[in-house]
Amino acid sequence: MDIGSSVVKAVELTLDGPEPVITGFARAEIPPGGDVREAVEQVFKDGGFKSKRVVTGVSGQSVVVRYVPMMRMADEELMQAIRFETDKYLPFDLDEVVLDCQALNRTVGQASDSEAGPQDDQMMTVLLAACRRETLEAQVQLVQEQGLTPFAIDLDLFAIANAWELCGIPDEVMADEGDGRATALIDVGAERTSINVIRRGESCFSREINIGGSDMTQAVARRLGVEGFEAEAIKRAGEAHEAEVNSAITPVLEDLASELSLSIDYVEHHEGIAVEELLLSGGGVLAPGATAYIEQATGRPARTWNPLEGLRIDSGRVDVEELEAWAPSLVVAVGLASRVRTS
Ligand SMILES: Nc1ncnc2c1ncn2[C@@H]1O[C@H](COP(=O)(O)OP(=O)(O)OP(=O)(O)O)[C@@H](O)[C@H]1O
Ligand SMILES: [Mg+2]
Repeated sequence: MDIGSSVVKAVELTLDGPEPVITGFARAEIPPGGDVREAVEQVFKDGGFKSKRVVTGVSGQSVVVRYVPMMRMADEELMQAIRFETDKYLPFDLDEVVLDCQALNRTVGQASDSEAGPQDDQMMTVLLAACRRETLEAQVQLVQEQGLTPFAIDLDLFAIANAWELCGIPDEVMADEGDGRATALIDVGAERTSINVIRRGESCFSREINIGGSDMTQAVARRLGVEGFEAEAIKRAGEAHEAEVNSAITPVLEDLASELSLSIDYVEHHEGIAVEELLLSGGGVLAPGATAYIEQATGRPARTWNPLEGLRIDSGRVDVEELEAWAPSLVVAVGLASRVRTS
């Protein structure tokens, strides 16, 4: 279940042998000023899910992700050692947060490989994730209130990457050993945009940007002098208002593309890689002209992708047309559900 800031979406994956099958889907919009609880309740009423186990995700101010250079060590030692590094990397007190970390395969500072000293072999990069404890507890409570069992809590940022992996990272990308090619997964939500740059199946940069579909709605409201709900309808009306919506949201797309460019430039410079493709998702990219604008402004090929591709759908339990219609906004939900493979 992806508890977005504007829409709650749940996708149920069930393993049929090793194969994950989509056996349930529901979504409920949270009206402005509306109650998240009600939307969650609605989703579980509508979804008719078989399972009571739920994976949710966290994002926003409560979450911090860092890529920390550390001496090479065994995984068992790492969890202890990372606690001594947190002062430097986290804006929270250690007792306020829940931490997790993972050693990445790549070595430190791939950009400087040519001038690498021998000591670089002894270093590794650790992906450190922290979330405020009270945010996690509130989410656990929200799930339990529905009579459901929290199975895991992930980061939205990583769920995007897990969804992509579930769909099968193209073989040539994985086989691309030694080459510095990377793909940026970008999910444009209502309040924020998540970017996760993946190189050889592994995250090398991730970040959230506080720009999304709500900003576009507000831009339409201001431009046309209408209320928010009306602006929202006009924004989604498709061809009927395409030109005026597109011109109203251009400043928002401009800001978003410039933040994305900053991130791409940073990771390319820092890691010595080339971000060759932008894969877009999230409800925000459905806005007219969004993909084309981002492609042109960042100077990289961009396309929306479908996280359902390659997944079998149980059409007896799921309204396939409805599911497909919302596919681009289901990346986080699919990525969260992909945890079924580790259950
Ligand atoms: N057809 C459409 N055209 C333009 N925008 C759309 C369309 N459909 C949905 N949106 C926008 O997509 C956004 C919702 O997308 P999504 O469900 O990905 O966000 P969210 O997960 O709730 O938000 P966040 O990830 O920021 O918490 C809203 O801002 C909505 O206005
Ligand atoms: Mg979202």
